[in-house]
Amino acid sequence: MTSPAERNPAVEQLIARSHSLGADPRTTNYGGGNTSAKGTAIDPATGGPVELLWVKGSGGDLGTLAPSGLAVLRLDRMRALTGVYPGVEREDEMVAAFEYCLHGKGGAAPSIDTTMHGFVDAPHVDHLHPDAGLAIATAADGEELTRRIFADKVRWVPWRRPGFQLGLDIAAISNDNPDVVGCILGGHGITAWGRTSDECEANSLWIIRTIDDYIAAHGRPDPFGAAREGFTALPDAERRARALALAPTLRAIASQDRRMVGHFTDTDVVLDFLASQKAPALAELGTSCPDHFLRTKVKPMLLDLPPTAPLEQTIERLHELHAAYRDDYAGYYARNADEDSPAIRGADPLIILIPGVGMFSYGINSQTARVAGAFYTNTINVMRGAEALSTYAPVPEREKFRIEYWALEEAKLQRLPKPKPLAAKVALITGGAGGIGSAIARRFAAEGACVVIADLDAAGAKAVASELGDADVALGLSCDVRDADQVRAAINATVLAFGGLDIVVNNAGLAVSKPLLETTESDWDAEHDVLAKGSFLVSRAGGRVLIDQGLGGDILYISSKNAVFAGPNNIAYSSAKADQSHQVRLLAAELGQHGIKVNGINPDAVVRDSGIFAGAWAADRAATYGVPEEELGAYYAQRSLLKREVLPEHVANVAFVLCTDEFSHTTGLHVPVDSGVTGAFLR
Ligand SMILES: NC(=O)c1ccc[n+]([C@@H]2O[C@H](COP(=O)([O-])OP(=O)(O)OC[C@H]3O[C@@H](n4cnc5c(N)ncnc54)[C@H](O)[C@@H]3O)[C@@H](O)[C@H]2O)c1
Ligand SMILES: [Zn+2]
Repeated sequence: MTSPAERNPAVEQLIARSHSLGADPRTTNYGGGNTSAKGTAIDPATGGPVELLWVKGSGGDLGTLAPSGLAVLRLDRMRALTGVYPGVEREDEMVAAFEYCLHGKGGAAPSIDTTMHGFVDAPHVDHLHPDAGLAIATAADGEELTRRIFADKVRWVPWRRPGFQLGLDIAAISNDNPDVVGCILGGHGITAWGRTSDECEANSLWIIRTIDDYIAAHGRPDPFGAAREGFTALPDAERRARALALAPTLRAIASQDRRMVGHFTDTDVVLDFLASQKAPALAELGTSCPDHFLRTKVKPMLLDLPPTAPLEQTIERLHELHAAYRDDYAGYYARNADEDSPAIRGADPLIILIPGVGMFSYGINSQTARVAGAFYTNTINVMRGAEALSTYAPVPEREKFRIEYWALEEAKLQRLPKPKPLAAKVALITGGAGGIGSAIARRFAAEGACVVIADLDAAGAKAVASELGDADVALGLSCDVRDADQVRAAINATVLAFGGLDIVVNNAGLAVSKPLLETTESDWDAEHDVLAKGSFLVSRAGGRVLIDQGLGGDILYISSKNAVFAGPNNIAYSSAKADQSHQVRLLAAELGQHGIKVNGINPDAVVRDSGIFAGAWAADRAATYGVPEEELGAYYAQRSLLKREVLPEHVANVAFVLCTDEFSHTTGLHVPVDSGVTGAFLR
């Protein structure tokens, strides 16, 4: 049987309208707003018609809404809720009552906004958080502006926290005034309605466009004031360099309470705001839309030095501002919390603004960090609109707190799955396009890490990255580990993409198998350039970020059984592997003071998926042992103590656990992953 949400024309129109509205971030913020349709379907229990409400449920985004993201409720039961509504003080209890109005199983959980959709009689309703609508909603004289811009076609609804009562307020306006097409919700957004889906969408867009036109015609030309001397954007290259120089410090600031992933934005919208006279005062007022408080915190942290200030001085100042931010946030919590409030959720900023350079936004994963940045860009647009016509006046602190620490929001957070072991960690894997490297990348991504795959084989690196997910999960890039500039560029790209670095895996490699007398100088150099020098360059560039961040970290070396075992015909490869193994010990000794662990893995005979074994190496090894090439994997297995063939994922398993808290007290270790080779026992 199909679910009630499917194959109903009202639902099809609703989905199409939602996608169209959700496609433009100025129409509503990511994940924000909700849409609905009312219609009739056949009730499978009675065979008769039943009036239903389809409304976007909790979570998800309008732009990608699917029928499964809709909550489906019976209108007769919804309407009956007014009879049991205990009043605004206990309005949160009504969320549980929605569960008793659901029609059929499946579908999304009804959100707090379900009331406004259900009680407005019009069959189609949009509730959105457009930048333009919020500009009026947050203007000090928003009510007066609404009257001036819309005469009586759009009404003002004073701020109140989203919930049952707000739905009743909106429904009263809508149901009693047939000429009114929507309303501006003070401090919050807009709601519009229509008899058809097209009419509803047209009304929503008309409200937004009318405000935009009004601001263009009547607004001040420079709502943020003139540019501050010295605070304008640095030229591109200098800006990026400065962002990179500051990123480790900023990530440490954002991660004092909990490790965060970062996202960097240096659009003109951000840079122009940060250069402006009004930026400090406006930033202090914070964001307004209720959707924003959890993602951006109530206000950002803004650097008060120009981008040309000496780096040392800037870093020192950032630490002072961080301490002040934490005090301020703790004060905000203490002023507003009561005995029922959830515990404080950490006092570090989620948005850090650096004039002349850009915005760093943070979250528990890359998507969250990116969306936080998008939300603050929305806030800048809102402030610009409000200041063009009036004065930006977001809802008071107490109301912000009531949203940020709302019991219903807390319950949602509590329901989130436990973070994965590598959540909020950023890993760079050299040679990640190859057999072992790609297995490590896959495992790390599955465990929650953001992964950068750096390989000489750019196409291969990109292919592995896109297999793992979108740009929020993985990045594939071209990098020759023999070249210090390319290594630095790869580390920089990692830091700009994900805000920092936590795990470096030296895995790139190649193998040649020749007797001493046939080994050429170029064989020797090829091995030592990639394995010895390449690892050194990657550890050096990555280590600099790890040290600057001060958040510890892991450096792994995929060394080899051959670093220990002295087999024949292997002088160039095995001695370069031994060099890598000693780098593990040397760096473990040197970097321990920074909390950075350095460990090695000694695999052996990983034939499957290995580029090395696809080359001449396999033929040489097969000839050396006198077995057919295709039986090499099996040959190695029977030669081992455990008689098991070693696969890339076995190496990846160990790479993963070495980077978890289970190995928090282990550094300078080499772990064999060779099914047991007595000749390679460590002693
Ligand atoms: N396969 C085994 O049995 C085995 C055993 C012990 C150790 N190892 C080591 O494991 C690592 C991975 O080996 P694999 O078996 O997956 O081989 P692989 O050939 O499948 O992967 C190696 C990757 O390194 C990349 N690479 C080579 N030179 C590079 C450079 N200069 N810069 C950046 N990337 C470069 C290659 O393009 C390739 O994608 C190597 O260091 C290898 O020595 C492998
Ligand atoms: Zn809303």
